[in-house]
Amino acid sequence: MKKGKFITFEGIDGAGKSSHIAGVTEFVRARGLTVVSTREPGGTPLGEKLRELLLHESMHLETEAMLMFAARREHLAQLIEPALARGEWVICDRFSDATYAYQGGGRGLDKEKFAQLEQWVHGHLQPDLTLLFDLPLAVARERIAAQSRDLDRFEQERADFHERVRRAYLERAAAAPQRIQVINADQALEDIKKLVEMTVVTHCF
Ligand code: TYD
Repeated sequence: MKKGKFITFEGIDGAGKSSHIAGVTEFVRARGLTVVSTREPGGTPLGEKLRELLLHESMHLETEAMLMFAARREHLAQLIEPALARGEWVICDRFSDATYAYQGGGRGLDKEKFAQLEQWVHGHLQPDLTLLFDLPLAVARERIAAQSRDLDRFEQERADFHERVRRAYLERAAAAPQRIQVINADQALEDIKKLVEMTVVTHCF
C-alpha cells in the first residue's frame, strides 16, 4: 500500500522545528516529489477541532491521551494513508512519539497503554524517519519567551514537566536509533538546516 515516505518532526516546545519543516518540504518538492505537510494534533477538520480542545481545555489526563490517538486515527484515515498510497511524501509536525514523550514522560501515564493504542491506530505503519530536535530546556524556554505570545496548556507546564518530556524523547531515540535521528537544535539555523537535509537524503532517498 505505502509508496511514499513518512517523515515526522519531534522535540520539546521551543525546539524550533517549525521553520525546518517548511524548509524540508521545499527541499523535497524541489526534487520533483509531491509533499503533504501536516501536523498533530490536527491535520483534518475534526483533528483541528480536537487540537483546539487539547491545547486549551483542561481534561482528565487519560482523556487527553486518548484524544491524541483519536485525532491521529482520523488523520491517518483521511490524509496520511491516502497520500502515502498515492506515492506522495508526508511530513508531519509531531506523531505518536509526542504522546510517549508528553503524556508518558510529561504526564507520567503508563506507556504500556500507549503501545496498545498505537498498535490499534497504526500497528501497520511507522514513520520512515523521525527528526528529534534536541536542546537544553533553558534555550527552548528563552526562544518561547522571545515570541511573546499566549502559551498553550503544554507550554504553560513547569520546567520539570518539559525536562521529563525531553528525557522521554531521548529514551525513545535510544530504543529506535535507526528511525529516530537526534538533531542538535542548539546551533545556528543554517547548520541545523544542513544537518536536517543531509539526514533526509541519507535515510529517504
Ligand atoms: P506544537 O506542535 O508545539 O505546535 P506549535 O508549534 O503551534 O506550538 O503544539 C502541539 C502541542 O501538543 C505540544 O505542546 C505537544 C502537544 N502534544 C502532546 O502532548 N501529545 C501528542 O501526542 C501531540 C501530537 C502533541
